[in-house]
Amino acid sequence: TAPILRSLAELRAATRPWIRTGESIGVVPTMGALHDGHLSLVAAAKAACTRVVVTIFVNPRQFSSPEDLANYPRTEEADAKKLARFGVDALYVPDGDQMYPEGFATTVSVAGLTDVMDGIHRPGHFEGVATVVAKLFAQSSATDAFFGEKDFQQLQVVRRMARDLDLGVTVHGCPTIREMDGLAMSSRNLLLSDRARTVAPALPEQMQTLARTLREGGDFGAARLDAVAALERAGFTSVDYLELRANDDLALLEAPTRPARLFGAAWLAGVRLIDNIAVDP
Ligand code: PAJ
Repeated sequence: TAPILRSLAELRAATRPWIRTGESIGVVPTMGALHDGHLSLVAAAKAACTRVVVTIFVNPRQFSSPEDLANYPRTEEADAKKLARFGVDALYVPDGDQMYPEGFATTVSVAGLTDVMDGIHRPGHFEGVATVVAKLFAQSSATDAFFGEKDFQQLQVVRRMARDLDLGVTVHGCPTIREMDGLAMSSRNLLLSDRARTVAPALPEQMQTLARTLREGGDFGAARLDAVAALERAGFTSVDYLELRANDDLALLEAPTRPARLFGAAWLAGVRLIDNIAVDP
């Protein structure tokens, strides 16, 4: 099993010989409560890089409320067990003061891509993400990093940041891993009651229906309203957004005239679920 490193000093000691011999270092940033979606990123990193560092840090700066942060699942022992069969080189689990020591004053902010969707519905969220990811890249001396398309807006924000700041990290996007019933795997699914868990697959189902309408050139506006109504009937309390956007710049589209995705975010029993599916021209 991989050694668990809790300080930056230990992480640097581990990576020093790898850097000296020019190895590729793949980093997989996570907040723990690992599931098969996370593990698919670890497998991709192992396939592409000679060294792999998995990080687990529940980043307080990307949560909008103290309750959400407090309720976030924490399962470190089980996480370490799940990683055992992958042969990762280090599991980095920094303490809060390793990441944000007294006097910490810098924020990384990516304009444009964060003006829409979760950038609006979760104010400050992407600043928190970009700041911690920039730190994790620097701390691990990553050459490569692996992110899920499940959080597609986050993936694009991280890509933009890595490019704009010349971080020298190649950002790889990996496909969304789903449960048998279509629900995208997420650590937050653990927070759903049994009843809510049976309702949750309505989100990907309605998004698939909407995507089919788009591919067939149907009336998106009407189909979108039907989908929102169906979600509310199923038991979702509210829909934050359900929209078609271009992959590269996340511009709002009315039809898939260039590579695009349907993005959705909705609340179910106090848990916010997000998903996105490709709708190509
Ligand atoms: P977390 O939600 O733990 O996700 C860690 C990584 O796993 C992200 O890149 C996310 O997109 C990916 N992932 C989650 N569910 C997935 C699924 N069903 N299929 C494929 N990939 C999936 O995202 C974060 O943590 C944080 O914002 C972080 C980047 C670690 C910064 O704090």
